[in-house]
Amino acid sequence: MSETLSLGERRQEALDHAAGLVARAWAEFDQARDVETLTSTELQRALSSPLPERASDVVAGLDTAAAVLDASLAQARPRYFGYIGSSGLEVGALADLLAHSYDINLAIDAGAASLLERQAVGWLGEFVGYPAVSGSFTSGGTVSNLTALAAARERAVPGSRAAGLGGVRVAMYCSVEAHYSITRAAELLGIGRDQVRPIPIDGDRRMNPALLVEAIAADLAAGITPVAVVCTAGTTLTGSVDRIDLIADVCDRFGIWLHVDGAYGLPAAGAAGTAALFTGLDRADSITVDCHKWMFVPKACSAVLVRDVQSLIATFAHDEAYVPHADDEINAVDVTLEYSRPVRSLKLWLAFTVHGALAFREAIARNCAQAQFLYDECGRHPRLQRLPTRPQLSIVPIRHLVPGCPDVDAHNASLTERLQIDGRVYVSPATIDGHVWLRPCFTNFRTTTDDIRLLIDVVDSLGNDCESHALVSRNGTHGLSV
Ligand SMILES: Cc1ncc(COP(=O)(O)O)c(C=O)c1O
Repeated sequence: MSETLSLGERRQEALDHAAGLVARAWAEFDQARDVETLTSTELQRALSSPLPERASDVVAGLDTAAAVLDASLAQARPRYFGYIGSSGLEVGALADLLAHSYDINLAIDAGAASLLERQAVGWLGEFVGYPAVSGSFTSGGTVSNLTALAAARERAVPGSRAAGLGGVRVAMYCSVEAHYSITRAAELLGIGRDQVRPIPIDGDRRMNPALLVEAIAADLAAGITPVAVVCTAGTTLTGSVDRIDLIADVCDRFGIWLHVDGAYGLPAAGAAGTAALFTGLDRADSITVDCHKWMFVPKACSAVLVRDVQSLIATFAHDEAYVPHADDEINAVDVTLEYSRPVRSLKLWLAFTVHGALAFREAIARNCAQAQFLYDECGRHPRLQRLPTRPQLSIVPIRHLVPGCPDVDAHNASLTERLQIDGRVYVSPATIDGHVWLRPCFTNFRTTTDDIRLLIDVVDSLGNDCESHALVSRNGTHGLSV
């Protein structure tokens, strides 16, 4: 008997069952849970079994898949405050199911889906206040930054995509607190990570424009060609937004490509209370926005937008015998790094269509208000320390202090571990100016002010036991709950 790859007459049952599993997950995300499911022995056994050669029941397979996800760290849960989380927006997940079912490839003209991607590029640009002429949706901020900086390299050293950089000495500039995807791009583009100039920051942790000018002038005097300046619009460490307008002035003066890495923070340009932080954004040559961070849609959905489509064509276009160019039309693959590409933009498009832009502006503003709330609460709290400057976006580094505690860094490092084991909230650590901080970040539309109150209570109650650094699991759980 030959095996089949169709679900056949079980298709509807499988679909109904999957819908039930999704509905259960969404209902569970409405409130945080206090106790997380352990990876059961049965699950562990299933996850170490050999390749199945024969078919098995689809409903049972779906149940196992859901059980694995349920026992995993889901960033969509409202008390996940680690790193820069995401929310798995419901309509975004539905859009993914549709997009994956049709499995359209955006490489060449795919018909209506290509138009939709173009519209989504325009909508996203409009949302953040950037006059995007072209762009594409990528797998993440890392790839968006790489894409933009490849275009910057070709602009700075025309023909380098063909000839390589040869003996041309080049450099890139960003703040010391830029995301390391910028360094990785320099490594991959042959610029070299040693040629990334880390520009010091000011008291607000923003790139210092005067020191940027000095670095550029020194390089020019030494015969080094500047490739790009990267502004970070929301640093990963503290959420600071570089002064884009001042940096744009510097770029204009020296004729250098300006890229804005807003992977995390740029959605806040679409919220009234924070829009002013991004003044000058419209002057950037390219920008990165991760919609799978603060636009709440599921991974992967980043976007790289540019004002000049020719810069992308000059960098990525190829003429290959198997790639049709009807009527000299530009294919998506002529302006992107990837070839086969799913319709990632559908989730943002559907999210804007169903909820409207205002719902996003308000959700982002709520996260920023939550950050201010935590900052103010810490200011009143006898045992919580905060940074001297208010959060610009939604990251609020905090430290727990215990009188007489000999090593505050070790205490907070241990506290982070204890928080993760406890499981009521999830917070990741960060090293700021050589010291260990807890670094809550709010990028989830499900988070409430009560969740922040609980964060404070849990940090304080676990932190008060400075003497005991023993990692004790609460209720025998492994603490992945958020
Ligand atoms: C400022 C910034 N740029 C780039 C990235 C990389 O984005 P991704 O993880 O989507 O590749 C991050 C990730 O946190 C980031 O914060």
